Amino acid sequence: MAQINTSYLKLPGSYLFAEIKRKVDAYQKEHPDADIIRLGIGDVTRPLAPAVIAAMHAAVDEMADSATFRGYGPEQGYDFLINAIIAGEYRPRGVELDPCEVFVSDGSKCDVGNIQEIFSPTASVAIGDPVYPVYLDSNVMAGRTGEFRSDGRFEGITYLTGTAENGFVPALPERPVDLIYLCSPNNPTGSVLSRAELEKWVRYAGETGAVILFDSAYSAYIRDPELPRTIYEIPGAEEVAIEFKSFSKTAGFTGVRCAFTVVPRALKRDGVSLNSLWNRRQCTKFNGVSYVVQRGAEAVYSPAGAVQTREAVDYYMENARIIREGLSAAGCTVFGGENAPYIWWKLPAGLDSMNFTVTLLKTCQVVGTPGVGFGPGGEGYFRLTAFGDRDRTVEGVDRICRAGLV
Ligand code: MLT
Repeated sequence: MAQINTSYLKLPGSYLFAEIKRKVDAYQKEHPDADIIRLGIGDVTRPLAPAVIAAMHAAVDEMADSATFRGYGPEQGYDFLINAIIAGEYRPRGVELDPCEVFVSDGSKCDVGNIQEIFSPTASVAIGDPVYPVYLDSNVMAGRTGEFRSDGRFEGITYLTGTAENGFVPALPERPVDLIYLCSPNNPTGSVLSRAELEKWVRYAGETGAVILFDSAYSAYIRDPELPRTIYEIPGAEEVAIEFKSFSKTAGFTGVRCAFTVVPRALKRDGVSLNSLWNRRQCTKFNGVSYVVQRGAEAVYSPAGAVQTREAVDYYMENARIIREGLSAAGCTVFGGENAPYIWWKLPAGLDSMNFTVTLLKTCQVVGTPGVGFGPGGEGYFRLTAFGDRDRTVEGVDRICRAGLV
């Protein structure tokens, strides 16, 4: 008889955002007239940039003509997009990449979840707390953890705790680890690793042989020019780090699906190039992103596309300011929202974040994400996203402030 992967049984019943959606859907069903404002999952609301739309339309027309029709594309992505990524994203920051180091994919969620496959099943893992749950869940599924403990943590994982006291910037692990997941700008806290912090991590990985898995999906939201936008701005990072970036939040591609992962050729462990392992993995399990989508992504780096996508990012950052300043003025303690699209709200002492999710829904018909969903270190906090519509965001903040919940 076939046996299941029992590691899955260690995981809580459902994925964080699926669980919140279930609660909201149930509430909406019971209250069909409720005017719910969704500031929970970080899903974009602005339409695609006109330059992206034009490029995708043109690509669709190419697909309609036998002379320009395309079938399977390269598993790693088309050269036109890879070259645009290098020229638009890295070269301006003094980082030169070889095209074979960039792998286009259908999303950073998939890549950060899949990357662990190229490492040993016994690799030890360090993960932020609180942080995007995919890093932990994918390692639990792969059997790299022990049991789930009563303190909300898994045996065998090294947790890098972010607190208000350390500015949500975790310290180096106290025991050696093989893989280190870093997320900057951080989802959910909105904190960003400074150049000095990143240098510290790169040095540590260089000295210990660890590999940094650097999720930088929100780098377009960094406003402070002193903050690095890619880990490869740090000398030596190409020997210790894999970087993940996405068009989801940068250019509104959450539904379109396109991202990329950089695996430098200089990154080797056990004498083997991780680039060749990831390439092998992708060629076996992935058939590339559609031509139409890649043409749309390429247009993000065109002069018009760059201006238009920047306008959308500015729009969301204005939402972030509205949430941050609105809640602060009402007496709340909030973090993030300055170089990131998430506001990390410290709930009044003693409030349980999962219960607060329900309270906020019932009282204000506003959806947010409970901090505990990002790890036990997130308990007592609540995440609001800046990706909503402007009027709905203003209304949501107003409802929260008027409800006197804070
Ligand atoms: C979030 O809300 O944290 C993100 O939208 C989730 C994701 O990007 O998968």
